[in-house]
Amino acid sequence: MNRDFEFKQLLRAYRAGIISEQTFESEMAALENGSVSGNGSGFRALGKTYGSEREAVVAFLDRARVAECNAGVAFNEWAKQCKTDCIRSGLRIISERESYHGRIFEQRLRDLGAECKAQVSEESRQFAACVTDPKLSDNEKLLRFDALVKNPDEIFKPICEFIESIKDDQESKEALKLFIEDEMSTTKWLKYACAALNAPTQAAASSSASMQPAA
Ligand SMILES: [Fe+2]
Repeated sequence: MNRDFEFKQLLRAYRAGIISEQTFESEMAALENGSVSGNGSGFRALGKTYGSEREAVVAFLDRARVAECNAGVAFNEWAKQCKTDCIRSGLRIISERESYHGRIFEQRLRDLGAECKAQVSEESRQFAACVTDPKLSDNEKLLRFDALVKNPDEIFKPICEFIESIKDDQESKEALKLFIEDEMSTTKWLKYACAALNAPTQAAASSSASMQPAA
């Protein structure tokens, strides 16, 4: 990989919130010093350098496992609170998806002989607090999600690049490809629901709100 590509990958990971500012800065410094680029050592993934592909896959599966489990519980709670009929079962589907991703990743980590040790990130905690807040309306929750995920393709791009870069662990690679398709589907549906239910031509959200396009 050349330095331009490495830099772009790093920047995308930072903008998508996959790596912290601190990690971004240390990886940038390493890139500028030439200590991680093109020397054939380590495995570059999502703006970080790992000792091996396996290490990178395990780290990703572990972080995704805990984030997905957390989101599964949060979406289930939102579905229970939901007052907008047309999105309730969609939220239940999302909750199931998130939860089974968590279970599959846990299983895969065990297959790989790796530990489940990642903790829920502050970002995941805040997201769960928002979508389970009984004081927020469904429309407001959708608006906040929409603001958080401005461009799903851009956000998932670094992860797709990471998945494509996996060469040895084909089982994890194929599972992660399906995972990303689920995540894209979930994200696009939530954004579509947000646009439909918050459209200015429609009446304020109510239990009879519909996601049919305005005539
Ligand atoms: Fe997810």
